[in-house]
Amino acid sequence: MALKITVIGTGYLGATHAAAMAELGFEVLGLDVVPEKIEMLTRGEVPMYEPGLEELLRKHVAGIEGSTGRLRFTMDWAEVAEFGDVHFVCVNTPQKHGEYACDMSYVDAAVESLAKHLGKPALVVGKSTVPVGSAERLAARILELAPAGGEVELAWNPEFLREGFAVGDTLHPDRIVVGVRSDRAEKTLREVYATPVGQGSPFVVTDFPTAELVKTAANSFLATKISFINAMAEVCEAAGGDVAKLAEAIGYDERIGSKFLRAGIGFGGGCLPKDIRAFMARAGELGADQALTFLREIDSINMRRRGQMVEMTREALGGGSFLGKRVAVLGATFKPDSDDVRDSPALNVAGQIHLQGGQVTVYDPKGMDNARRLFPTLGYAESADAAVRGADVVLHLTEWSEFRELDPAALGALAGTRLILDGRNALDPVLWREAGWTYRAMGRPAA
Ligand code: UGA
Repeated sequence: MALKITVIGTGYLGATHAAAMAELGFEVLGLDVVPEKIEMLTRGEVPMYEPGLEELLRKHVAGIEGSTGRLRFTMDWAEVAEFGDVHFVCVNTPQKHGEYACDMSYVDAAVESLAKHLGKPALVVGKSTVPVGSAERLAARILELAPAGGEVELAWNPEFLREGFAVGDTLHPDRIVVGVRSDRAEKTLREVYATPVGQGSPFVVTDFPTAELVKTAANSFLATKISFINAMAEVCEAAGGDVAKLAEAIGYDERIGSKFLRAGIGFGGGCLPKDIRAFMARAGELGADQALTFLREIDSINMRRRGQMVEMTREALGGGSFLGKRVAVLGATFKPDSDDVRDSPALNVAGQIHLQGGQVTVYDPKGMDNARRLFPTLGYAESADAAVRGADVVLHLTEWSEFRELDPAALGALAGTRLILDGRNALDPVLWREAGWTYRAMGRPAA
């Protein structure tokens, strides 16, 4: 009989995973502890902006006309335990308040609530990003709590999806990593992922600590790549070089690769910043802190970019105070094709300038509601045109395609001064200059 799957936690990761599992043909039951989320998902609505997710959800959520009916949602742990052969734990692991370590309280609570009801054989699969050693601890906890005892097993299966590409990344992962302790667990996961593996996704089988570490290592490497190119941008600023050309040129070396070498105001979001910090904290606990001290530098290079963007803006405005200056900010989300503003470099820069007396007006294609909630005191406009009207300077801080398609000439007619600073190195300098703008990007003083 086909495996029945449950997904615990219905955020970016869980909602996407649940819909993808239904797309792969499984019967799926999703659980969340937030009633509003369950109500929305049951109506086929997604609580966040993620391209393609709502369509996939509506294709499978029971009760929606024309759907396969394979996907349902509940808040009832007993129902989940009774229903599932495989339970994916997809709850979030934010940074703890006031320290670097990861807050495991949601994962712990989810595993405990589930385990207590597990009266039949099942595989619990952790997907959340956790400090290494968590899987071993949770496996022991499940054994203690589950009425079915040793019939319930744990596996660790980290997730590598990117916001903005969550659906594609989940249905066609570039690798599937499973940390298992038995052949039975491996066999079950091979069954779950038979379709993507059949289509060529590599399937890497390993132990618990390696599976947990693969995830934090991958995100640390990506963060390092971004901070590396941003460090080069700082040197280019000082030496009169062009970091975009430098990135292009080193990227042709296949060992380096051209991806994740876009210099600018740096990385943000709910993953990279907190993951490198939690990794440092965990290495410290393990007595291996020296191995990761370089991540402290990666973090400070990254955080420094935000301040440098503020200073570049101040200089472009003549070097004095921001008082009375009108600053248009294009972009609020931490990256394009997402409405996520968690630790967004764009909002951070907007906030700093605002706190120093600048009159900041922000526009973002999808992140306005979340940005308003986080920074209610900033000014907001309903379009790029409205944000730019009368501005002394325009800051391009999130590289939405909508901003690359703006007509510099038309926008120039609205701006107070034709001055644009590109914090993402994503606009075409030639086009903007032809329309009479002063264009300046980070790490490209002469370009
Ligand atoms: C990241 C990883 O890329 C995923 O593989 C991982 O699964 C996910 O975290 C997670 O742990 O859940 P995500 O947070 O969606 O995914 O964002 P990224 O695409 O990695 O971008 C992170 C930040 O880096 C953004 O603020 C982006 O603007 C910035 N970035 C990216 C750059 O500044 N330069 C670049 O060249 C690339």
